[in-house]
Amino acid sequence: MNLTPAVVLLLTWVSVCAAHFMSLPFSPARGLPWQHKSFGKLLEPCRPIGERLQRPIQPLLKPHKRPIRDFRLNATTRDIKLANYYDNLYYAPITIGTPGQTFNVAFDTETPITWVPSIHSPPRQIFRRITKKYNNESSSTYKANGKPFEVSYGPGLVLGYRSQDNMAIAGATVHNQTFGEAILEPKMFAGSMIDGVFGLGFSGINAGEELPVFDNMIMQGLLPAPVFSFYVKKYDSDGPESVLTLGGTNPDYYTGDFIFANLSMPDRWQFEIDRIQLSNDVGTSCLYKCQAVVDTGTSFIVGPSHEVEGLNEMLGAKPRAGDPKLYTLDHSQLDSLPDLEFIVNGQKLTIASKDYVSKGEKSGQYYSGIVGKEFKEGERPVWFLGFSFLRTYYTQFDKVKRRVGFAKAS
Ligand SMILES: *[C@@H]1O[C@H](CO)[C@@H](O)[C@H](O)[C@H]1NC(C)=O
Ligand SMILES: *[C@@H]1O[C@H](CO)[C@@H](O)[C@H](O)[C@H]1NC(C)=O
Ligand SMILES: *[C@@H]1O[C@H](CO)[C@@H](O)[C@H](O)[C@H]1NC(C)=O
Ligand SMILES: *[C@@H]1O[C@H](CO)[C@@H](O)[C@H](O)[C@H]1NC(C)=O
Repeated sequence: MNLTPAVVLLLTWVSVCAAHFMSLPFSPARGLPWQHKSFGKLLEPCRPIGERLQRPIQPLLKPHKRPIRDFRLNATTRDIKLANYYDNLYYAPITIGTPGQTFNVAFDTETPITWVPSIHSPPRQIFRRITKKYNNESSSTYKANGKPFEVSYGPGLVLGYRSQDNMAIAGATVHNQTFGEAILEPKMFAGSMIDGVFGLGFSGINAGEELPVFDNMIMQGLLPAPVFSFYVKKYDSDGPESVLTLGGTNPDYYTGDFIFANLSMPDRWQFEIDRIQLSNDVGTSCLYKCQAVVDTGTSFIVGPSHEVEGLNEMLGAKPRAGDPKLYTLDHSQLDSLPDLEFIVNGQKLTIASKDYVSKGEKSGQYYSGIVGKEFKEGERPVWFLGFSFLRTYYTQFDKVKRRVGFAKAS
């Protein structure tokens, strides 16, 4: 990654990798350049999603070998307040081990495994200012596992091995949880506000991998339902702090009914969109349906370059000189911008222009938050609905009904 001026190191992973306007928090990037909030630097893409998309696609109906079941429906939902780092990164503490070692983690619906840095990582490999590392020697509940893991974040891999220990989150203790001890991390994590990533994606249960934390919480009777939900607050808005609810939804954070979409992939929070359009008949995209992923590792709305180019043209946004994946807008255009609408199951999800337009803090330049990504040949293009979508729509993720649901955030 060709970024990291020294100052950036003070900031988050995300900020390294993202920016208010264009921050694709972690995974983000999912293959985009963006501008750093405070420095106006163009950063390289963080994570091409290619690897994931190129995994063999399993037939949707193939049953999982280990379906989640056996709920003991006697627990209440658990709310976790999320710290908001300039709308780029939302994170909270978890502890691992006995006594507990605390780590700040971001919650990523596209990461399968939960990982934190290992005490056994070579000192030079993890360039953090404040490094918290899991120390297996000082936990009485540690059990070795040793199987390798890796997660790809664009320009680099997080590599390490698996271990097992108790993990505490939101007052619940998950026993015998397998997690990743990271030995190598890409530089993008240097100086980040977060130590690791809490995986809310699907791990390869079909491939015989261990259950993710959320699934174990269900299996161990710690949650009343196999559902989690995000309320994501804008940094400078009033209103309650951002919250992740484990075990269901919290009506304090949304109004009205949910619009549901069944998952279209066995191992991803992916669903079908009928159409994408701009209000007032300004234009349409995704004419023959398309696929989208709800992604808590992306700040913006990211789509295939050609579709994004069309939408931005209709908005009157211009490709940024030297970086045609980003589109700029003039202040004079802002008042007349249409809403961005996603039609899902015949119903409309609406993002107002104030929520998809961002202002570069330093440059004062306005940007369209609809950002293009090139997909490699053979890759199936998808849209990524990141925080700018989640700030408008409270979203629930249901692992057993295998669907996502959207309600207006309050
Ligand atoms: C801690 O982990 C290291 C590296 O995997 C291993 O060599 C060591 O035996 C472990 N310590 C305990 C107490 O199991
Ligand atoms: C965790 O592992 C220990 C020892 O292997 C076992 O006694 C305990 O029942 C396990 N707990 C759960 C919830 O699986
Ligand atoms: C709730 O579940 C726990 C196990 O997770 C069990 O020990 C407890 O008895 C249950 N309580 C009720 C009221 O069913
Ligand atoms: C979603 O899945 C459920 C259960 O599999 C099914 O009953 C329902 O008809 C599906 N909805 C749509 C819109 O396909």
